[in-house]
Amino acid sequence: MKDRKEVQLHDKTFEIFITEDEILKAVEKLVSEVEEKIGDDNPLFIGVLNGSFLVVADFVRRYKYNCEVSFVKMASYEGTGSTGKVKTLLGVNEDLKGRNIVIIEDIVDTGNTLEELLKLFGDKELKSLSVATLFYKPEAYKKDFPIEHIGMEIENKFIVGYGLDYDGWGRNLPHIYKLKE
Ligand code: IMP
Ligand code: MG
Repeated sequence: MKDRKEVQLHDKTFEIFITEDEILKAVEKLVSEVEEKIGDDNPLFIGVLNGSFLVVADFVRRYKYNCEVSFVKMASYEGTGSTGKVKTLLGVNEDLKGRNIVIIEDIVDTGNTLEELLKLFGDKELKSLSVATLFYKPEAYKKDFPIEHIGMEIENKFIVGYGLDYDGWGRNLPHIYKLKE
């Protein structure tokens, strides 16, 4: 399983794209940026399930100050038209007033999920709110909210591995694979 050049998931073949070492360098970039910005000021990191479970685990293990970690769960639905609808399955229970919130995402694609997610924080009198995403597809992003911390920009290709799935499979792959053309 570990170091295959190609993987088959359901009906599609994927080829190696970003190795585990490169991924961890991108995680370390996120960590040092957030340490620089928020440091010891009691950050609350909020991971977005399911995809972000590995990046959150690697991120918080490297964060050198005290911090809290929580998760939200969002599900996106493909509408009958072109717009994807996003639903909150698990929200935030922590008291957010006066907190430095950093949303940790595996990937920001169109930004639909992020837009819905930001509504959970709209009226909470936060001290700060920022987004840290491991991967970002600049060609796909359609929203205005600034993505402050980006691990790595990637081309507009469908990827799997390191938490990201194709129809439920591929999350356990240590490397990132892209759809083979
Ligand atoms: P959005 O388009 O920014 O709302 O992204 C929605 C969600 O789709 C992300 O949080 C991921 O879970 C998933 N997603 C986006 N791009 C990819 C991809 O290339 N591979 C696997 N999942 C993806
Ligand atoms: Mg996600």
